[in-house]
Amino acid sequence: MMSVVVPPPHFLPSPSLVFLFLVALVCIFIWGRHRPAGNGHRRLPPGSMGWPYVGETLSLYTQDPNTFFSTRQIRYGKIFKSHILGCPCVMISNPEIAKIILVTQSHLFKPTYPISKEMMIGPQAIFFHQGSYHSKLKKLIQSSFLPSTIKGMVYKIEDIVLDLLTSWKHTNTINTLHEMKKYSYEVSIISVFGKEIEVNEIEGLKHMYHCIEKGYNSMPLNLPGTPFNKAMKARKLLNEKLKKMIEKRREIGEYGGGLLGAFLGLNEKDQLNDSQIADNIIGVIFAAHDTTASVLTWLLKYLHDHPHLLYAVKIEQEEIRCERLAKKRGITWDDTRRMPVTTRVIQETLRAASILSFLFREAVEDVEVEGYLIPRGWKVLPLFRTIHYSSDFFPDPDKFDPSRFEIAPRANTFMPFGNGVHSCPGSELAKVEMLILIHHLTASFRQAYNILSPF
Ligand code: HEM
Repeated sequence: MMSVVVPPPHFLPSPSLVFLFLVALVCIFIWGRHRPAGNGHRRLPPGSMGWPYVGETLSLYTQDPNTFFSTRQIRYGKIFKSHILGCPCVMISNPEIAKIILVTQSHLFKPTYPISKEMMIGPQAIFFHQGSYHSKLKKLIQSSFLPSTIKGMVYKIEDIVLDLLTSWKHTNTINTLHEMKKYSYEVSIISVFGKEIEVNEIEGLKHMYHCIEKGYNSMPLNLPGTPFNKAMKARKLLNEKLKKMIEKRREIGEYGGGLLGAFLGLNEKDQLNDSQIADNIIGVIFAAHDTTASVLTWLLKYLHDHPHLLYAVKIEQEEIRCERLAKKRGITWDDTRRMPVTTRVIQETLRAASILSFLFREAVEDVEVEGYLIPRGWKVLPLFRTIHYSSDFFPDPDKFDPSRFEIAPRANTFMPFGNGVHSCPGSELAKVEMLILIHHLTASFRQAYNILSPF
């Protein structure tokens, strides 16, 4: 027979005690969510810090990142806290607040990267700096990628495209990302070393660069045989190779073109040392290469998936091709300015693919933003992808619809190339690269390959 143990009457809580207990619990919960972080009355943004140490890292990596960000945005609002990869952080999906972080108060939020990436690219590269060193580099890099400079590179980029497309002649299938990487690598090399760079020099650099690329996203284990270790060795060799190239150019007194030429041509008081030059040369190749190749790959996929858009692009490119052929000339910078349909497809690709979903910044001191405290040392992540997929700014955001760019997007809502002091100096080059490739792929080579669709 089952026996029931009844506690003595004085152990049974009275209803008023239960009520008081529940009130206390609610108060503790509210206090816990809004308590000041030991810093006056300022409170942290709402959000969850997840489990001790691991925080919400597992949730981020086990679900679609879009879902991770959007569920939190719905629950907590457009600024919320979290804890990922061992760091407390604040995530931002509001364009005005992102502007504060990246533009108006950018001096309070420094760019931050894992130390392994800094070692691999080189600690003196532009990405890791703020202040006067950063602005000096930025001016130099920007001036090497101005439309006036890119204009002179158009024929060379066209040569690279034509060689690439010709190399596909004897293959049935190509790996698109792989081929786009080849293309963007070669364009980045001529933009950095100038059009005069010799083929054997390009080949010498290629192997080392690819070794570094392989180790870049590997586990940062510097043990013999690991991809990270091989990449670090290749990085050292590349440094030596670059130093030799710099020496040679200095010796013969011909600085050459490209970014390297601009670095070497600096007057004495502004001069950069060899390590600063090498880190920034490698940094720019890194920044230019993978990004452009990924966007190009998405661009080809979106065109393939939307035949009516492909058709519209072909009509636009065909007109330019006929004009070129009549005048017996290659493509020019001015031609690339007369491609509104293709340009809008590229813009929509940049939005829909949002290849850089977010950036990392770190608060250099306690900062108050929108009434919330962002403590010193916390990471701050402007969520570009979430902003690009907000129906407040881009109605029907899941639809691939280039016509939305017939009207310019609201300020600070479209940031594929970042915003503020660290925004991308290579955006024009990237766009020209895409336009020239699309021109030849859809016009000149359209009969040779049914790469996109059988029109
Ligand atoms: C479609 C291709 C590209 C995309 C989507 C892209 C995107 C971006 C973004 C979002 C940033 C800002 C990073 C930050 O604020 O921390 C950036 C910075 C940068 N990009 Fe690009 N980029 C592309 C192509 C290029 C190219 C072709 C170059 C070659 C010059 C380049 C060079 C750089 C450099 C040097 C920076 C660092 C700027 C600084 O720290 O001040 N990028 N890029």
